[in-house]
Amino acid sequence: MTPKKKAETSEPPSKDEPKITSITDLPGIGPTTANKLVEAGFSTLESIATVSVGELAAIGGMGERTVKKIIEAAQAALDIDFETAKSVLERRKDLAKITTGSQKLDMLFGGGIETGAVTEFYGEYRSGKTQVAHQLCVTVQLPREKGGLRDGDEYPKVMYIDSEGTFRPERIVSMAERFKEDLDVEKVLENILHGRAHNSDHQMVLVEKTIKDYLPKEPVKLMVVDSLIAHFRAEFTGRGTLAARQQKLNQHIHTILRAAEIGNMAVIVTNQVQSKPDQFFGDPTYPVGGNIVAHAAQTRVYLRKSKGDLRIARIVDSPLLPESEAVFSVTSEGIIDGN
Ligand SMILES: Nc1ncnc2c1ncn2[C@@H]1O[C@H](COP(=O)(O)OP(=O)(O)O)[C@@H](O)[C@H]1O
Ligand SMILES: [Mg+2]
Repeated sequence: MTPKKKAETSEPPSKDEPKITSITDLPGIGPTTANKLVEAGFSTLESIATVSVGELAAIGGMGERTVKKIIEAAQAALDIDFETAKSVLERRKDLAKITTGSQKLDMLFGGGIETGAVTEFYGEYRSGKTQVAHQLCVTVQLPREKGGLRDGDEYPKVMYIDSEGTFRPERIVSMAERFKEDLDVEKVLENILHGRAHNSDHQMVLVEKTIKDYLPKEPVKLMVVDSLIAHFRAEFTGRGTLAARQQKLNQHIHTILRAAEIGNMAVIVTNQVQSKPDQFFGDPTYPVGGNIVAHAAQTRVYLRKSKGDLRIARIVDSPLLPESEAVFSVTSEGIIDGN
């Protein structure tokens, strides 16, 4: 194309230019590329409009210039623009919350665990992370008016990614029996899908499989990753491997965030703490994984042990919630208010 010709065509696009409504309408995306993108979780114009050039180029096996055009076309088709706070507030009213089983804990979260977002629970061994995760697998299946996300008889699905081998269906049964007036214990068990992750690669595949095979077909409302970092930490030891670990973890967390958005579901990740040897005052523990995890989770909750079965939850750097604490109790029937 000569520069002259280019100048001549720089007019507003003609009316009969095809309208872009799906990713296959984008320039430069043929059926093969479209398949690759969908498999990687990029099935909507929104997902293409917000991806980085590098990431899309790697997935689609395309050059940077082509990729830039594709992203710009997706952004133009979506008519991305600002929105008033009033309409954001209206939209947020539709966001659902899942009860934790404890009213005090729900209040700490402003009503429960939010969908479309990642909530991180971090704390020491036996601080209650896995128990909270089990409890949410049950409460998400309650009808909406009881604090769950079930519509009528359609039980929501839960994807439980278990990297430590600590998932116990017996605990699900005990926790579900507490609510047996409002749910069917058998159905609860049938709708929790357990995936055992034996290493970090396996764990990443389970999240990708959730996006590819389950979100498009099933009413998945909760995904648990318990624990997020354990494998990464065990596999990448020694000084030189830290950068490689963070890079891989970053990619994994990115996929988890995308799953939360695409599925408009709640995502719970658990995380260990490590002690900060140079800190003498305050609580000398902090979550593993550094800034990568901190930036991904919309809400971070620090769990710590108190007397007996009591546990203390503290909200840490939330965009919305004040830094405050709630006391809950881990009992045989599940999570309840502490005294
Ligand atoms: N069946 C049960 N009845 C009462 N409490 C239990 C039961 N199972 C586990 N717990 C409580 O949960 C704690 C373990 O919490 P868990 O969620 O596994 O910790 P972590 O933070 O390491 O994941 C135990 O110390 C115990 O207090
Ligand atoms: Mg655990």
